Amino acid sequence: MCFVSQDLVLSLAILVLVLLLGTPSSGAFGGAENDVKSAVFLSPKIELRPGSVANKDYYDIDFPRGHVAIKSFNAEVVDEAENPVPLHETYLHHWLVARYYQPKHVTSHTGYDGHRIHHKSDHISVRNSGICQEDTLGQYFGLGSETRGTATYIPHPFGIEIGNPDEIPDGYEEKWMVNIHAIDTRGAEDKMGCTECWCDLYNVTMDEYGEPLKPGYKGGLHCCYDYTRCKLREGFEGPKRSIYLRYTVKWVDWDSSIVPVKIYFLDVTDTLKISDDSKGPSLNHNCKLEYEVDSCSTGNMNGNGCIDVKRSTVAMQSGGYVIYGGGHQHSGGIALTLYGQDGRVICSSIPSYGNGTEAGNEEDYIVGMSTCYPQPGSVKIIDGEIVTLESNYSSSRAHTGVMGIFYLFVAEELPQQQHF
Ligand SMILES: *[C@@H]1O[C@H](CO)[C@@H](O)[C@H](O)[C@H]1NC(C)=O
Ligand SMILES: *[C@@H]1O[C@H](CO)[C@@H](O)[C@H](O)[C@H]1NC(C)=O
Ligand SMILES: *[C@@H]1O[C@H](CO)[C@@H](O)[C@H](O)[C@H]1NC(C)=O
Repeated sequence: MCFVSQDLVLSLAILVLVLLLGTPSSGAFGGAENDVKSAVFLSPKIELRPGSVANKDYYDIDFPRGHVAIKSFNAEVVDEAENPVPLHETYLHHWLVARYYQPKHVTSHTGYDGHRIHHKSDHISVRNSGICQEDTLGQYFGLGSETRGTATYIPHPFGIEIGNPDEIPDGYEEKWMVNIHAIDTRGAEDKMGCTECWCDLYNVTMDEYGEPLKPGYKGGLHCCYDYTRCKLREGFEGPKRSIYLRYTVKWVDWDSSIVPVKIYFLDVTDTLKISDDSKGPSLNHNCKLEYEVDSCSTGNMNGNGCIDVKRSTVAMQSGGYVIYGGGHQHSGGIALTLYGQDGRVICSSIPSYGNGTEAGNEEDYIVGMSTCYPQPGSVKIIDGEIVTLESNYSSSRAHTGVMGIFYLFVAEELPQQQHF
C-alpha cells in the first residue's frame, strides 16, 4: 500500500468535500438563514493499535476564515476509507476545539508536541466566556461519545462571532486547534473499564508528566494519556488502524443582523478555592472535570435508589438569554440539569443510549445528549444569578473518570426586529 497517494487522495477528498450549501430560509427572522455555508474537514491522521490511547493536539487546523458567525460544529471518528468507526472499536473520549492568536509569519505548529496552548509563549489563547480557572474548559466546542447524536445548530439570527479583525491584536492572526482523545478498545478485556480509564487496566502508576498518581486515584485522564495501552484479552492480536476526526462546520458571513452568543462551560466538580498570590487573596474556580461514582452496594445506598447525585453552585457574573444548552456525561449518566437561583429548570440534558452495534447506535454507550432550544427571550439568567448544576448517574456499579459538564450559549440582547 502506498501511503503517499492515500494522503493525496484524502487531501483531494477534503477539497471536494468543501461544499457550499444553501439551506431553505426558515424561522421568524428571514434574512441570512439561506446563506449558511458548510464545510467538511479531516483532522490529521491518528494511528491506533488495539488497546492504545491517542491524546493529540493539532494546531492551525482547517477552519472557516474571516469575519463569520459559526452556526454549528459536528464531528465523528472515521477510518481510512472515511467510514464511521463505532464506539466499541474506537471510543471517542472527547474532542475540543479551541481558538488562539498566533504571531504572523511564525511557522505554525501542526503536530503533537505534548504542550497545551498556554505553554506556548507566542500564542495567545482566546478562551470562551467562562467560568473555570485559566484555560480549563476554555474551548469553543467539545463533545465526546455523544457527538453523532447531539444537535449543535444555533438558530438564526444568533451565532458565534469569530475572526473580527477589530479584536485580533496587531501582528497576529486567528487560528484554531483541536484536541482529540480516542481509545482503541478492540480486543480489550474490559471495554467499558478502558473507556473509564481505570488505572489498573492501563497498568499505570505515574501520570503523563512522570509524577506518581495521588494515593487512592482509581482512574481518569491521568491514567489514559497519549501512548498508554489498556489491557487486552489474552493472546488478542489486531492490526494497527488509522482514524481521523471528520468535522463539519456551518457558518454565515458576519453582518449586523446577527446577534452574538457567549459560550459558557460549567463543571459539576467546580469548587471555589481561595488562593493567595501577589495581589492578595482571591476566589478561584477549581474545575477538576472528573469524579468518581461509588457503587451503591458498597454502603452508599442513600435512599436515592442507586442514583448518585452531584451538585455544584456557581454565580454567573453576567447573564443573558439562553439560546442553546446541553450537557456531557459518560456511560452511566442519567441526566444533567441546570437550575436557576429560584429552582426553575434552565435546561435539562438527557443522555440517550444505543441498542445496536452500528456507529451511532452502540449499545451501552451514550450516543446523544438532548439539548435545549428555549424560545429566545423565554429563559433568562440574571446578572449575578447563582445557578446549580446537578449531575445524576446510576450507581448500580462503580464508575471512575465520569464528567458532568454543561455548556450554555447566551445572548446578552435580543434582536431588534423580534416577532414574538
Ligand atoms: C506493569 O508495569 C510494570 C512496571 O511498570 C511492569 O513490570 C509489568 O510487567 C507491567 N505489567 C503488564 C501486565 O504489562
Ligand atoms: C436527579 O436525582 C435527584 C435525586 O434523586 C432528583 O430529585 C432529580 O429529579 C433527578 N434529576 C433528573 C433530571 O432526573
Ligand atoms: C432499539 O430501539 C429502537 C427504538 O426504541 C427499537 O425500535 C429497536 O427495535 C431496538 N433494537 C434492538 C436491536 O433492540
